[in-house]
Amino acid sequence: MMDTQEFKRWGHFLVDMIADYYDNIENFPVKSQVKPGDIISKLSVSAPKESDDFKSIIEDFNNFIMPGITHWQSPHFHAYFPANASFPSILAEFLCSAIGAQCMVWETSPAAAELEEQMTIWMRKFVGISDNFHGVIQDTASTATLVAMLCAREKYSNFSINKSGFSHSKFRIYCSKEAHSSIDKAVKIAGFGIENLVKISTDENFSLIAEELEKHIISDLKNGLIPLAVVAALGTTGSTAIDPINNIYEICQKYNIWLHIDAALAGTALILDEYSELRNQVNNADSLVFNPHKWMFTNFDCTLYYVKDKDTLINTFSILPEYLKTSNDDKVNNYRDWGIQLGRRFRALKLWFVLRSFGTNEIKRRIKLHIDLAKDFAEKVCNDTNFELLAPTHFNTVCFRFAPKGFNGNIDALNESILKNINDSGKIYITHTKLNGKYTIRFVVGQTNTEPIHIDYAYELIKEECYRHFK
Ligand SMILES: Cc1ncc(COP(=O)(O)O)c(C=O)c1O
Repeated sequence: MMDTQEFKRWGHFLVDMIADYYDNIENFPVKSQVKPGDIISKLSVSAPKESDDFKSIIEDFNNFIMPGITHWQSPHFHAYFPANASFPSILAEFLCSAIGAQCMVWETSPAAAELEEQMTIWMRKFVGISDNFHGVIQDTASTATLVAMLCAREKYSNFSINKSGFSHSKFRIYCSKEAHSSIDKAVKIAGFGIENLVKISTDENFSLIAEELEKHIISDLKNGLIPLAVVAALGTTGSTAIDPINNIYEICQKYNIWLHIDAALAGTALILDEYSELRNQVNNADSLVFNPHKWMFTNFDCTLYYVKDKDTLINTFSILPEYLKTSNDDKVNNYRDWGIQLGRRFRALKLWFVLRSFGTNEIKRRIKLHIDLAKDFAEKVCNDTNFELLAPTHFNTVCFRFAPKGFNGNIDALNESILKNINDSGKIYITHTKLNGKYTIRFVVGQTNTEPIHIDYAYELIKEECYRHFK
């Protein structure tokens, strides 16, 4: 077994190994090139009875595991949305594992609870949103949206569903057709039934059409249904579309509906003054979620959930069995009551390390750089008549396809094969979506260390692969 001397030896070794990994990360194929079953076939069929030496564990990690890793931290990663990490955040995670605290209540680690409280305040100020919001760190945006739906349900029902279960009332939840699947999941889990999630049509920019929303609400009311919550998107996953939050807010006010904003990725952009108008709009919401683990250099997982009505949040989730009662319960935040799970990781530490180690100016500089690079990329796409830009570039995501003049074949199939060839090359990694039924390549700029040189490289690579078909 590993003693402290061995731990030191391998700890130092691993820090060197990690630093070398980052120095050489661009040499790895960004998307793992293994086939299904390749990794499991290399693993022994059961756990060893006796201790393996750590050297052989590391060797197997390098030989068996690394080939099956997709390198999310490569500056050539332009797929999905980022889950970007950084050195201060990695070191915080290291300390977190060492402390190994389970931070369910204040007393089980007062520093974790109080740092979490302070980090939600720092972040609220950094993002520039109203101090009427109370924050808590959750694991993911999916959880935070579920929490919002449960709060809306309990507020509306005066906590009767928590107590007695559903009666026959049919609650209705609304979001745009472009909204994230985590809303579907939340609606199912919260017991509303997926048939009661109303997907509202979007306009040419993939933003929810507010008039359509109101029409559905009126019709639902006529049919005896209960409009409960709207989830507005600030940055959809497909194209980073922005729903008309002001109009949606007016509708929510008129019909007494909970407004939750899903800004999972784009919440980070609110730190920039260019987006101050969006900040003002967000301030009207009942709740808001965004993920520093996506685009703020903080390792997965770290989600900020802000809610105005803290009492409803706590009344929805609070459970106090005898064994969890402490003498300080009335003086402190016991975050087990602010969400779903009892046990909690010490997530605030990495946020603290990131905010202090980068400083807010450097975080702003990098986020602005990512947005500028995405906009430059979009401009290049627009300037080439054989490409089509398929959605506005509001933040760091460019949606486009190759549609060469005079091409009579299947454009979807063409773009699908371009994407596959690029990803199989291992040089960069991009993914796709469908917008208006069109196969769309999404190019995202968001990895912590992405610089202009990486974007130039990616653009040339994509162009070369596209035109290779038409020489
Ligand atoms: C707009 C949006 N909402 C929610 C989510 C879910 O995020 P999480 O993985 O934190 O649950 C995503 C993930 O990409 C997203 O893009």
